[in-house]
Amino acid sequence: MKFKLPKLLGLFSLLSGFLLALTCKRAPLTSAEKEAIINKKVDSLLAKMTLDEKIGQMSQVRHFDSIGENGVAEKFIGSIIHTDGPIPGETALEWQEKFIKLQKQALSTRLGIPLLFAVDAVHGQNTFEGATIFPHNIGLGATGNPDLVKKAAEITAIESQATGFNWVFSPCIAIPYNEKWGRVYEAFSESTETTNELTKASVQGHQGNLSDKSTVMATAKHFVGDGSTDFGVEGGTTSLTMEKVREQLLPPYQAAIDAGVGSVMVGFNSFEGIPLHAHKKLVTDVLKNEMGFDGIVVSDWMGYSKYGRNKVVNAGVDMLMAVDGDLEKFQKGVKLGIKKDTVSMDRIDDAVRRILRQKFRLGLFKNPFPDSTLIAKIGSQSHRDVARQAVRESLVLLKNKNNILPIAKHKTIAVVGEHANSSGLQSGGWTISWQGSAKNYEGATTILEGIQKLSTGKVIYDEKGTDKKSKADVAIIVVGEQPYAEFFGDIGHSSNNLKLTLTKEHQQYIKNYTSQGIPTVVVLISGRPLVVTRQINQSDAFVAAWLPGSEGDGIAEVLFGEYDFTGKLPHSWPKFAKDYQTNKFGPNFWDDNLTPLFPLGFGLSYK
Ligand code: BGC
Repeated sequence: MKFKLPKLLGLFSLLSGFLLALTCKRAPLTSAEKEAIINKKVDSLLAKMTLDEKIGQMSQVRHFDSIGENGVAEKFIGSIIHTDGPIPGETALEWQEKFIKLQKQALSTRLGIPLLFAVDAVHGQNTFEGATIFPHNIGLGATGNPDLVKKAAEITAIESQATGFNWVFSPCIAIPYNEKWGRVYEAFSESTETTNELTKASVQGHQGNLSDKSTVMATAKHFVGDGSTDFGVEGGTTSLTMEKVREQLLPPYQAAIDAGVGSVMVGFNSFEGIPLHAHKKLVTDVLKNEMGFDGIVVSDWMGYSKYGRNKVVNAGVDMLMAVDGDLEKFQKGVKLGIKKDTVSMDRIDDAVRRILRQKFRLGLFKNPFPDSTLIAKIGSQSHRDVARQAVRESLVLLKNKNNILPIAKHKTIAVVGEHANSSGLQSGGWTISWQGSAKNYEGATTILEGIQKLSTGKVIYDEKGTDKKSKADVAIIVVGEQPYAEFFGDIGHSSNNLKLTLTKEHQQYIKNYTSQGIPTVVVLISGRPLVVTRQINQSDAFVAAWLPGSEGDGIAEVLFGEYDFTGKLPHSWPKFAKDYQTNKFGPNFWDDNLTPLFPLGFGLSYK
């Protein structure tokens, strides 16, 4: 066949164009180029926005707050939060569907800005029953293993995305100063260095490349000094010098910023007599300007009306957790502030710019919806295996007289105490519900189940520690704290009756077995070191197990010697309860003159 010349020429140019396109394939964009594109998009979007739309972007509400059927669109809401309270649905698919519906509403608005969906996933996606629940951060601090912390965060991100979220309010990077604080367990360690390292790992694990559909935006919280208040009071006064704050408390925030953390939550506490929510010097001058944080500063619960309204916005808070009826106060109040010139348009633009920038960085404009294929990964075996590894590595062996541990599998074992057979009790607060519970929950294994699984001898369960004629060769006695969260866990708070010591009943469990001459291994389930000096003396072996989460059976693997103990104390271990009553703000283990029972970093092993 003959080709006509023009046709041939056409074919030639097509071919050369194709070859050219192949050879001149553009190099991937550098991160600076990507950022420049994002900033351009943010500016052009911002230029189109009305004041109402801007204030809307700064608003976060609960998915069940009564803002009306079309409230998300009508009030231009920027973010939805899920924490305690009515769940979005029964199955993960229903959760996704609920959030897809809200997202579609946001996308139907004039500018189609997608919503951020935030969740308090602080040790796994702990608001969803059936998710993998990791040890609380204090246990991860004991592992001292940044790779493991990163993996745990990656899994939390996947399971959070699988239930419809693209933002988690984690990690808490407090440096707890006083074990009386009810949130000690939410933080990794009293050591700034350990916290720096694990913060970096956690942020990297959660965020990955950020725009992936299985990663989420992380939140470093609660800025700053939340764990270092006088008497360990949640939301109390942090009476440190600025020098100490810089030395001990700010470095983990710098580590988070360097790892690219997308948001920072301000604390309920005060510093220099000013609530952190209204502390412009710390929030704007230090965090944003000096430390270079360019993400979103989010308020804590109802932060707007609780801490001086527009003072909060002026201090540099960008998004308001305007829940439980706070939305109207915020939206009206800030509008009035603009009108009266007590809030500047520049401040509003800075806040909105930060929110939009994160939404672009997360790839939400392109991919606003969750991925239903992730649902199959919730609570999967491979996820649970990582959580079980975390449980094993978090265990700290404080005493092992005559090498009573590891226990031979053929022995007759008495397992004692209600904490031994309750996944709720072993998981602490922020598990399924805000305050946690004593109930078992789906997918979890208990400590007793783990012992039963591995034992080749007889296992006798004595729930209340009352067996006076035990036939056991050895007793594993599991004692500890009841679940609590936030100020409900403060020791000394008027609304609760908590102590830093074991209850009388739990002390009796131990006495009952030691008085029969039975060798005893005590496993302590607690969100903080407790004053258990006498019980450590009474028992033959003593293990600090913190709050291990859903994989309680991991504990048996170490008690039976399948794995060694590798955990090290993330806190100095106190000797006397009175140590916490004398000082102005409790002992400061960095420079105090009190001697702990065990120092930071202590932990025995089988070798
Ligand atoms: C807590 C935060 C939490 C927020 C949302 C507050 O009471 O202090 O840590 O992220 O509630 O549930």
